[in-house]
Amino acid sequence: MHKGDLLYTGKAKSVFRTDMKGILLMEFRDDITAFDGKKKDVLSSKGRLNAQVSAYLFRLLEKNGIKTHFLGMPDDTHMLVRELEMIPLEVIVRNIAAGSMVRTYPIEEGTVLEPPVIMIDYKDDERHDPLLNDDLIIALRILTPEELAVVKELAHRINRVLSDFFATLGITLVDFKMEFGRAEGEILLADEISMDSMRLWETGTRKSLDKDVYRFSKGDVMETYARVAQVITSAGREN
Ligand code: ATP
Ligand code: TYD
Repeated sequence: MHKGDLLYTGKAKSVFRTDMKGILLMEFRDDITAFDGKKKDVLSSKGRLNAQVSAYLFRLLEKNGIKTHFLGMPDDTHMLVRELEMIPLEVIVRNIAAGSMVRTYPIEEGTVLEPPVIMIDYKDDERHDPLLNDDLIIALRILTPEELAVVKELAHRINRVLSDFFATLGITLVDFKMEFGRAEGEILLADEISMDSMRLWETGTRKSLDKDVYRFSKGDVMETYARVAQVITSAGREN
């Protein structure tokens, strides 16, 4: 596998072309950022742990009938993925009120959201990822109404698979962010699902097991990431 030209570099990952048409190499770097990039650090091994967790969860989702961009892992820090035409949305599913939801709306942290709440941001760093609604997504021609229904249905299905999986580990999936892309008329799950993009609580104690440890200096970030990655990737190989 030849690592070709750098296609783009984001806040935590770099994406390279390969010698195979339509297949990209996604490098998970050790960079970590929060608060719109205002807080940033480099944490050794973070890329490897997020890559392994992402790969594990993409495999789990594929086994449960969800189509993703994931093709394989050539090494510890890289994922081979199908090149997609990315949809500039951050699709967030919330099972429990936390984070920006409790900062913005009158709801107490920890409130169970049944049914889960989907919130969709426009992925645009310069505009600070503004919140969208259905009409705006259609007016901005980001998705057709039919595609929007598909994205929401996929988001709910993915949430059910991941929530059930984490429940078996004594972990509550509080909320998480997804990105989707198009290939040959189909919508596939893309990007990553890792400790950077999920909010995970130890069930019962509400202890943070994710990037909130970094955001709010709640403890040793890498010790938490390593422990969570170990629990996830060694979970029942039958999944
Ligand atoms: P953010 O951190 O806000 O998600 P970013 O652009 O800085 O944004 P990175 O994760 O560092 O994010 O960069 C990865 C980039 O690769 C993102 O722009 C993402 O949309 C893009 N990407 C993810 N999956 C694919 C794919 N299958 N095909 C093409 N591009 C992809
Ligand atoms: P949210 O509560 O909106 O923001 P914050 O974490 O800053 O309080 O985040 C909801 C979930 O989505 C959380 O698990 C983190 C994830 N997320 C991302 O991965 N990237 C993003 O750009 C945003 C806004 C959220």
